[in-house]
Amino acid sequence: MSFANRCAERVRQLQIHGLLRNVHDLKFYDACHAVDGTGKRLFVACSNDYLGLRFHADVISAARGAAKLVGTGAGGARMVTGSNAMCSTFEQELAAFKGSEAALLFPSGYMANIGLIFAIAGEEDLILSDEKNHASIIDGCRLSRGKTLIYPHRDVKCVEKLLQINRPTARDCFIVTDGVFSMGGTIAPLPKLLALAEKFDAQLIIDDAHGFGVLGIRGRGSLEHFALTMNPRIISVGTCSKALGSLGGFICGSTTLVNFLRSSCRQFLCSTMLPPASVAAARKSLDLLRQFPAYVQKIKHLSTVAENIFQKNLIPIGGETHAIFSIPIGDERLATSLARGLYDKGIYLSAIRYPTVPMGNALLRLTICASYDETEFVKAILEISKFLGHGK
Ligand SMILES: Cc1ncc(COP(=O)(O)O)c(C=O)c1O
Repeated sequence: MSFANRCAERVRQLQIHGLLRNVHDLKFYDACHAVDGTGKRLFVACSNDYLGLRFHADVISAARGAAKLVGTGAGGARMVTGSNAMCSTFEQELAAFKGSEAALLFPSGYMANIGLIFAIAGEEDLILSDEKNHASIIDGCRLSRGKTLIYPHRDVKCVEKLLQINRPTARDCFIVTDGVFSMGGTIAPLPKLLALAEKFDAQLIIDDAHGFGVLGIRGRGSLEHFALTMNPRIISVGTCSKALGSLGGFICGSTTLVNFLRSSCRQFLCSTMLPPASVAAARKSLDLLRQFPAYVQKIKHLSTVAENIFQKNLIPIGGETHAIFSIPIGDERLATSLARGLYDKGIYLSAIRYPTVPMGNALLRLTICASYDETEFVKAILEISKFLGHGK
């Protein structure tokens, strides 16, 4: 069979199993509304723009200003062409917000995770990784060639057992976990994982892509949620693409770690830096988050409202009360047809399917955005509850 035929067969198989994806071309006109090609108006309830800042006038104006002043692209990797001072200032601001000694920017959160794990872990090292960690962590572990052991979701007892058996023969050890799991919406048991990291001389890597800007009283993330602060055992990874409404990843940790990564991490050294407009937009969003903790409180409030309605209507929801609600469906084709049915009603919820989640574990993922109008949001949740109650 030729390559072209094999590709065609793969596409056919994806279609048969309800796994073939189509991009929906939408025209967003604010953080949670869009129109499709037919002019249909949609309430989009599944974006990761948790604070709704990508349409904020000040954020847009910061991006415009930076593009006008310093151009549309960075021009190259930071260590090759130098970079605008704004990047270093933003790193200092991120570090101050997270309470770490230093921070380092990356072109995306995906690259930050891959780059970090690949740079710090090698064949003699041990990595313990939650089974539901994000793909970028999985890829980073694979690339590192470290001995990677996958533990059942949030199973601290298993982590301890694995450490007892495997830690003595490893050089360095890393426990790596999402802070908030992106699809299920669960929160990692950070206090217990940190205690194990202390006990077994390991580093705890937290990917807080979905905790940053959402959890904790001031939106500082999953550590703040547990009243924990950064310490030398912790490395925190974040992204500007979700709560900050822009693009780019970052790693917060010690000055020594950042100095090491700046000189050794291939994904940092060999890739073009973020466009100035993205950095300026993310900086302005961070500034707004610092000034207005009300964004974070609005997410909490809307989460409680949604949880109450779902519970009243007996709609099963995974996760905890924050910005991600995961409605388990199971079958891929059913999830797709439910999402399609909601689309017809003007509600855009995506069907999350394999390989984002394991086969047979398809789900509908609803997210909270601080800029939702409460009345419209309640109406949408009631509509979803009614539809799923009847639709399944
Ligand atoms: C948990 C988690 N980590 C990392 C990333 C990657 O971030 P980015 O979109 O900035 O590449 C994502 C994005 O979906 C994510 O959900």
